Amino acid sequence: MKKEKNRNSFSGSIGFVLAAAGSAVGLGNIWRFPYLAAKDGGGLFLVIYLVLALTFGFTLLTTEVAIGRKTKQSPLTAYSKIRKKWGFLGVLACLVPVIIMPYYCVIGGWVVKYFLAYLTGEGTKAAGDGYFTGYITEMVQPILLMVIFLGVVAVIIYRGVNKGIESSSKVIMPLLLLLVIGIAVFSLTIHHTDVDGVTRSGLEGLGIYVIPDLEGLTVKGFFTVLLDAMGQLFFSLSVAMGIMIAYGSYVKDDANLVKSINQIEIFDTVVAFLAGVMIIPAVYTFMGREGMAASGPSLMFVSLPKVFDAMGKVGNIVGCLFFAMVLFAALTSAVSVMEAVVSSLMDRFHLSRAKATIIETSIALVGGVFVCLGYNKLYFDITLPNGAHAQILDIMDYISNNALMPLVAIGSCILIGWIVKPATVIEEAEKSGCKFGRKKLYIVMIRYIAPILLVILLLKSLGILTLI
Ligand code: PHE
Repeated sequence: MKKEKNRNSFSGSIGFVLAAAGSAVGLGNIWRFPYLAAKDGGGLFLVIYLVLALTFGFTLLTTEVAIGRKTKQSPLTAYSKIRKKWGFLGVLACLVPVIIMPYYCVIGGWVVKYFLAYLTGEGTKAAGDGYFTGYITEMVQPILLMVIFLGVVAVIIYRGVNKGIESSSKVIMPLLLLLVIGIAVFSLTIHHTDVDGVTRSGLEGLGIYVIPDLEGLTVKGFFTVLLDAMGQLFFSLSVAMGIMIAYGSYVKDDANLVKSINQIEIFDTVVAFLAGVMIIPAVYTFMGREGMAASGPSLMFVSLPKVFDAMGKVGNIVGCLFFAMVLFAALTSAVSVMEAVVSSLMDRFHLSRAKATIIETSIALVGGVFVCLGYNKLYFDITLPNGAHAQILDIMDYISNNALMPLVAIGSCILIGWIVKPATVIEEAEKSGCKFGRKKLYIVMIRYIAPILLVILLLKSLGILTLI
């Protein structure tokens, strides 16, 4: 009982919503959502994503936050507090952030590099062929910048829930939103005539993004869009990696959970949508439709620098603002990943925050060095079951995102839907006297639809299901 009393909590709903939104808004919103939308028929993807966010996403997010608040425990110990025998799920859920943290910091370091490059007016150099590969295969600098990124995250975590996580989110998230809106508006104003005399504009690019393209849509195609949207949503909301349980455990009992969860989802979806408004029109204007085939690191670190360069002088400023924005997004996500592990160590082993932070920072540091070396001294190239080429970073990403996360989510659905029953979560959400509006929907989702969709997603991620 004493421990619970001493537990930190967010000072209010805004602190919680911004911290959770900070976790949700990350690299996935920026480098994957716009690409999937462009690939999957524009508006069609957007509509499906929205429907899934209000049903599937809402269910998973509510479940995790409620588990956290009910048990007042971090992921490692929360599941066993719900049902003793289900402690293994906590171990799995905690393993995900342990695996993600090292490589997320390495990518954070890459973002720092690009931000500094634009800050010092080296945008044109950064747009050169081979710049990205040249950089990540270097020996010292990627490790150094990874350490700096990790160091900043560790300081925020060390400062604790209020002075660290909450106060940094309250500054960073409004700034991030401002930058996203500013760059998106700019992106809509641009136009460009290429060497063949073809002129394209940002507004035309916006059309490709938002107008549904249903031409030649088949049932199989529809399922592809559905699964893409679901996989993206799942990753984007930071569920199934213990984070939302940890953050939920810091929410006060009198806070309105349902309202906060809606706000988190809105924030995450709006930023993902605006990332598309920012990126798709710009890429389309300067590179045409072919330019839109890139996603992930190659979109962010190869294609976009070329787009910024093609903008001329202003491109260097836009690039600088863009990478500042990405840095903010990556930072708040990394903070949440570390907190999931640190809070677990604190609850399970009764360590002080300082000790737990040092342990997790050391693990991330060693892991991060290995990830960096995966591009030079320890380089190898293997093919994953889904056909992608992989180095150390990709293997860690694959294990956490494609295997562990769907497994943890399926486990949570079974535990809440069938073992302890959905009423556990509903009662928790309604504890403060607020109304749980989508109760019936929640029950059907958590018991039937979500686990079925998740099993399909798992089979597809593992390359077992290749039909869709
Ligand atoms: N939700 C984040 C995103 O959309 C992903 C993420 C968060 C990944 C935290 C890892 C840790 O990018």
